[in-house]
Amino acid sequence: MTLTGAARVVGVIGDPIAHSLSPPMHNAAFAALGMEWVYVPFHVRSEALGAAVAGLAALGVVGFNVTVPHKVAIVRYLDDVDPGARLMGAVNTVVRRDGGWTGYNTDGLGFLRSLRTEAGFEPRGRRILLVGAGGAARAVGVQLALEGAERVDVANRTYERAAALAELLRAQTGVAARPYALSELHPAVTQDYDAVVHTTSWGMAPHADVPPLVPADALHPHQLVCDIVYTPEETSLLRAARARGCRVLPGMGMLVHQAAAAFELWTGRTAPVDVMYNELRKCLQRRAQPE
Ligand code: ATR
Repeated sequence: MTLTGAARVVGVIGDPIAHSLSPPMHNAAFAALGMEWVYVPFHVRSEALGAAVAGLAALGVVGFNVTVPHKVAIVRYLDDVDPGARLMGAVNTVVRRDGGWTGYNTDGLGFLRSLRTEAGFEPRGRRILLVGAGGAARAVGVQLALEGAERVDVANRTYERAAALAELLRAQTGVAARPYALSELHPAVTQDYDAVVHTTSWGMAPHADVPPLVPADALHPHQLVCDIVYTPEETSLLRAARARGCRVLPGMGMLVHQAAAAFELWTGRTAPVDVMYNELRKCLQRRAQPE
């Protein structure tokens, strides 16, 4: 597509940014719909965050994604923050609206859409175990709680962080939530859950050859086991879960659906999820090939 003066610009800010998979996914989506839009990666260091946001406004950028390390720091440069993003404590999508910036978080929604459309799993009334207590766990946990999960328990290497996230979920959403140390995840404890959701970067390539944080014997055949790690597509956790007879949900869907939700916030159009999926797969395959 040739860009004219009428082109609309969106993008992503982060540090580093060169390996972001968002530009190819969004630009493939714009091309597929024949939209004269372009998605640009912007390498923004922490000390330049305020200047960058002011610059994006001055340049008439329609919206942008926010990635590491700016997802929390961005909030003070925004005019408004969506209540869900506020609960998640982080913003990954910003929209220009009425001359100001509004922040959203589509990570939790991306996970939810993947959970519903790819695993056919409805969280309402279900018991869910989160593994990990960082930023990703918080986004996923808040979303599952807001969708009416019966309980969202949190297991983490550092017990204190599990306790803090469980307390936040209880206090802010009213969901039942209790903390565990990872060492407490015995089969008798974990059998109560309908789904286990791993939210840390453990098992991500090039360190994929590791035993899962949840031991295989603590996974039960009636459970759905989800990993937010998407390289490799089948992590050691998902391999162990499959061997135990569990249904599994790989992390690629969350990545695609959080992008699709951002696309919809900026453009008001339904995102071509299949196009974004195919582009992501192509990029990951290219990356996996030796130079
Ligand atoms: P993110 O925003 O990606 O979730 P984060 O906020 O730094 O990142 O959280 C990282 C999560 O991965 C935490 O749950 C962390 O456990 P701790 O709270 O105990 O640090 C977990 N994590 C990272 N490395 C880990 C490891 N080697 N073993 C177990 N858990 C690990």
